[in-house]
Amino acid sequence: MSVKSVVLICGGGNGAHCLAGLASLKSNIESRVLTLYSDEAERWTAKLESGLLITVRNDDGSESLIQTKPSMVTKDPKEAVSGAHYIFIVVPAFAHTSYLDAINPYMGKNTVIVGLPGQAGFEFECVDLLGDKAKHCTIVTFESLPWACRLIEFGKNVEILGIKDTLGASVLKGEQCFETRPILDLSQYIFGDKPKLRRVQNYIAITLMADSTVHPPIMYGKWSQWNGKPLSEKPLFYQGIDERQAELLSGVSDECLATAKAIKKKVPGLDMSDVIHVFDWYLKHYSSHITNKSNLMTVMRTNKAYDGLVHPMKAVEPGKYVPDFTYRYIREDVSMGIVPIKGIAELAGISTPYLDEVITWCQGKLNKEFLVGNKLTGKDLKDTRAPQKYGYNKLEDLFTGNYSI
Ligand code: NAI
Repeated sequence: MSVKSVVLICGGGNGAHCLAGLASLKSNIESRVLTLYSDEAERWTAKLESGLLITVRNDDGSESLIQTKPSMVTKDPKEAVSGAHYIFIVVPAFAHTSYLDAINPYMGKNTVIVGLPGQAGFEFECVDLLGDKAKHCTIVTFESLPWACRLIEFGKNVEILGIKDTLGASVLKGEQCFETRPILDLSQYIFGDKPKLRRVQNYIAITLMADSTVHPPIMYGKWSQWNGKPLSEKPLFYQGIDERQAELLSGVSDECLATAKAIKKKVPGLDMSDVIHVFDWYLKHYSSHITNKSNLMTVMRTNKAYDGLVHPMKAVEPGKYVPDFTYRYIREDVSMGIVPIKGIAELAGISTPYLDEVITWCQGKLNKEFLVGNKLTGKDLKDTRAPQKYGYNKLEDLFTGNYSI
């Protein structure tokens, strides 16, 4: 990488600290941070001089320390965006809109906009909010964050608890975007050796494989029959799944696969082979962590990577817990996860009884109406990123127009 690239990181949370810290280590990258939230820019700027420490917990139990120093943290979009070649948006999906609105006026041509992670409907939202400008851009969706990470001290110390082995990204290029910037090479250069990045064939394939297809079925399976009494401990999330939850998860995954197959049939030449069943996905990505590979339930129950991960719960009194239905597993993974996926399935003509059952329960918890019966015609569809909200009413609408994949 010989030409200096200007990389903007949007956000001020766990992932934004990691990315800003790692990008700042590279002498041929000028990295900047834009955070719009509350007084984060002021608080981070006040600590900038003393530097940022990244503590990495390695697989062998050892610890590596990376001392780094972002050069600029601001809440001024003009200062941050002007001249930026790559803009990574590293915030929960509900905050994407505020960043896209803020960067839009100052974005130059051939900018690469990256959702790290993008979550379902990221491309629809970018195209909608950026209007004609989006045609000059490349829109990239990563399937997740490269790291399991958490802030120890804001602006000062972030901890990387684990790094994924591989990470997929899809690339959607505007027809008037004339310069192909090497986004995967640049990202790999910033992240280091791990995770190994791979290109997913298209943005619909990455959407159908989103993490968000896992969380709502498990929440529904666990809590739909709950008697409302507080529990004395937090149940295991993945390692606690039962046959019913595994069936729901598998059913949703089958529906995503059927959608991918239908799309492949109707859109000649499109490669949807990245969309695989969740059981196969676990075997592919977590094989060495799993001790019992008999079926989906045992695969999840015996996956060491999930040690200690519990359901999102809130304490109602010391030692008494109830489920937290405002956590992102429902709040984000429904409107920006399984509802857009349902929307794509609807356009592909696939019936989705499992998705419908899960969405119906979740929307009740959110006090929203997305689905009416088995159709996405609810009054709150505007609060989602389903394709129908943006006026995509035929399957072809997703693959024709001003973008190439
Ligand atoms: P986070 O929870 O640290 O994000 C909080 C940040 O988001 C805040 O510091 C602020 O900058 C911004 N924010 C919050 N509310 C806002 C608002 N109303 N308006 C504007 N900005 C607001 O997020 P994190 O952990 O960095 O994760 C980013 C994404 O990556 C999420 O979608 C998360 O689900 C996903 N992810 C996170 C992992 C992790 O280990 N942290 C692992 C895998 C995925």
